[in-house]
Formats: sequence, C-alpha cells, structure tokens
Amino acid sequence: MAHDHLIEMLDLDAEVLSAYHRDLIAWAGREAGDRPHIVDLGAGSGTGSLALARELPGARVTAVDVSPEMLAHLRSRADATGLGGRITTVEADLDQPWPEFGEVDLIWASSSMHHMADPARALASAHAALRPGGVLLIAELESFPRFLTGTADEQVEAMVHTEADKMRHDAGLHMHENWGTRASQAGFTEVVERHFDIALEPPLPAAARRYAEVTLGRMRHRLEGRADLEALDRVVAGLSSRDDLSIRTERTVWLARR
Ligand SMILES: C[S@@+](CC[C@H](N)C(=O)[O-])C[C@H]1O[C@@H](n2cnc3c(N)ncnc32)[C@H](O)[C@@H]1O
Repeated sequence: MAHDHLIEMLDLDAEVLSAYHRDLIAWAGREAGDRPHIVDLGAGSGTGSLALARELPGARVTAVDVSPEMLAHLRSRADATGLGGRITTVEADLDQPWPEFGEVDLIWASSSMHHMADPARALASAHAALRPGGVLLIAELESFPRFLTGTADEQVEAMVHTEADKMRHDAGLHMHENWGTRASQAGFTEVVERHFDIALEPPLPAAARRYAEVTLGRMRHRLEGRADLEALDRVVAGLSSRDDLSIRTERTVWLARR
C-alpha cells in the first residue's frame, strides 16, 4: 500500500478538488507576474507542478522533492502530457541547505511545509530563494477529507481521524500551524490568508469514490495494531458500492511577499 497509494491519493485529490486547485493557481499566477519561474516545494506526484505548468502557459517550474520515486512519477506524467519541457525536477532534502534555483518568482508549497523539521529555517530559505517582490504560497490541510459525514458510519471515520491525528503528532509533523505568522517572522510582508471549506455532496463521481477508497484504505493500513479495526474493515470493504459518500475538507492557504 505505501508509496503507490500515496501517489494515487495525491493525484486523486487534485482531480477531485480541481476547482479548488485551479482557484489557487489563478490567485498565485496573478501575483507572480508574467512568465514566472516557480519552485514547487515537496512537489510529490506533481499535482501542483503539472497544474501550474498547464494553467500558466508562460511558467517554468522547478519541482523539488526528497523522493526519487515521486520525481520519477512526476517526470513521466509531465512528459506524457507535453509539459515536460517546462518542468525540471530536482532531488533535494529541504531540511538541508537548499540548492541554488536561480531567480524565483513564486514558491509553491502545498501540503509540504508541515513536513519540514525546522519550519523557521525552511521559511528563511524560502525568503532567501525568492527575488525581492516574489511570492510564497503555502497551502495546508486544516482537516483531512471525510467521506462518511451524515451516514451511520460517521463515528467509525471519526475514530480513524483521531488516531491518524495522534500519529501525525507523534511523528513531529507541524500540522495546524499559523503559517502567516511564521512567514511574517521570516521577513515576508503582505500576508493574506484564505480559508476553503470544501463540500462535495452525493452522488460523487467515480474518481471521488476511488479517492475515498484509497484514503480510507491507506488509513486502515496505517492503523494496524493501534485500534479495533473490525468496523473500519466493514466500512472499507463496502465503500465501492455506496452512493451516500460525500467529501468534507478544509484547507487554509497563505500568500506572502518577499
Ligand atoms: C503530502 S505530499 C504533498 C505533495 C504535493 N505538494 C501535493 O500537494 O500533492 C508531501 C511531499 O513532501 C515531500 N517531502 C517531505 N519532506 C521533505 C524534505 N525534507 N525535502 C523535500 N521534500 C520533502 C514528500 O516526499 C512528499 O512528496
């Protein structure tokens, strides 16, 4: 289950929540100026890099990730969609001193800042990497997607999220940070915060139902040995035939200028 399903889950998130992703890109694109050089931090499977290159035809994207597997997936999708010429991949650990990226107009950090061991140091590196007037966008999950709201299985899903939150906390991930305050402390100005309350009602399209299966399936896998999984197993086994699934997720996005 591990990495394959993470890649599939990230790709499905971008597909299912495409309106949200397009909204962010349009916003960042307006602020970053013409023909921007964009650095995608923790680019993962490439959802941001690919959409940025597609939606902003003048953009050049440098996709950075510590995982060669993620970058290989990103590269093959970029080439398959004809965007490869404008996307460069860089394998780097962003907890270490950053590579030289050249002049950068926009730093895009979607669900990646919370992975940084030292967020203050990462933000200082982002500030140093941007040209004066350049823009930093940080997008984070306030709440992870829920698919069973209002159904008889809502409590089973709530248990899963409680356990997953504990695991993220124990792993030292920086969830629920105020990245606007942190960006100001790192020297950024004009910080703007936007909150996105996303709700997709049933019946969901096939990709969204698959997103539910992959997300809850991954969580089931990670909870092995931590909780009573009988009810969760029953829910996961029945997901593909349900027509009452919905999606609820909250995202917070900060845009700040050097
Ligand atoms: C949750 S994924 C987000 C991927 C993508 N930005 C998106 O929104 O779909 C986080 C990514 O950050 C990468 N990552 C985590 N720690 C990192 C580090 N220290 N340096 C570089 N990349 C890192 C992981 O490999 C993973 O691909």
